[in-house]
Amino acid sequence: MSWERNFAARYLSLGHPEHILGSDAVIDAVRQLIRLEGPGALVVDELRHEDLEQIGWSGSRSHLRAVAEALQRVVSGDVEYLAVRAPTGEPVAKGAIDYTSHDGAGTLWQLATQPELQSLGLGSYLVREAERRIRLRGLRWAILGVEDNNPRARRLYERLGYQAYGREAASWEQEDERGTVTMYETEVTLLRKHL
Ligand SMILES: CC(C)(COP(=O)(O)OP(=O)(O)OC[C@H]1O[C@@H](n2cnc3c(N)ncnc32)[C@H](O)[C@@H]1OP(=O)(O)O)[C@@H](O)C(=O)NCCC(=O)NCCS
Repeated sequence: MSWERNFAARYLSLGHPEHILGSDAVIDAVRQLIRLEGPGALVVDELRHEDLEQIGWSGSRSHLRAVAEALQRVVSGDVEYLAVRAPTGEPVAKGAIDYTSHDGAGTLWQLATQPELQSLGLGSYLVREAERRIRLRGLRWAILGVEDNNPRARRLYERLGYQAYGREAASWEQEDERGTVTMYETEVTLLRKHL
């Protein structure tokens, strides 16, 4: 084991469980681990209700409510919700698959990577695991919708083999700093990939 790997592993094993990802040193150690060993050094498993308080980095309170609602649909099998975890257990990237929104396909949504750990391959890693889960259900299409104002995410999906094939109206709750909730209406480009 190289000294850097040793440092990262030892640092992370010293972890204090609560809000440990708030610490710059821990973020640095996770980043170093990913740089040395790739995103595959981190485990992907199921996001759980107990994780909600540790994914505040992924969006506003209304986003977290939408995540909680999605998690409630996991038990029926309509949704799978995945988390990539730091060695200390906290989610550092997350995303869901909805099996009901498009016939014969798994639809990826609510994808997000902890801002300080973006551009290290975690998003790609999560999308590939989601594709594997969709195939395990016997489905051959992965679909996702991306807004026009998010060209970086679109570039990432196109690089992963997704192609635009249509557009769809979308809406979700939005909350400002004062806690005012409004409905955000938009249109997304639909991208799909044959698995
Ligand atoms: C979109 C999002 C989930 C991507 O997650 P990510 O973990 O940054 O994704 P990746 O690291 O796999 O890929 C992103 C970029 O990193 C680059 N990258 C991937 N692996 C890399 C590595 N090992 N080393 C350096 N760069 C790498 C990719 O080339 C890509 O480059 P780009 O910036 O030119 O597009 C993330 O940016 C995010 O949370 N955005 C905010 C929420 C959002 O927009 N969600 C999507 C809604 S459709």
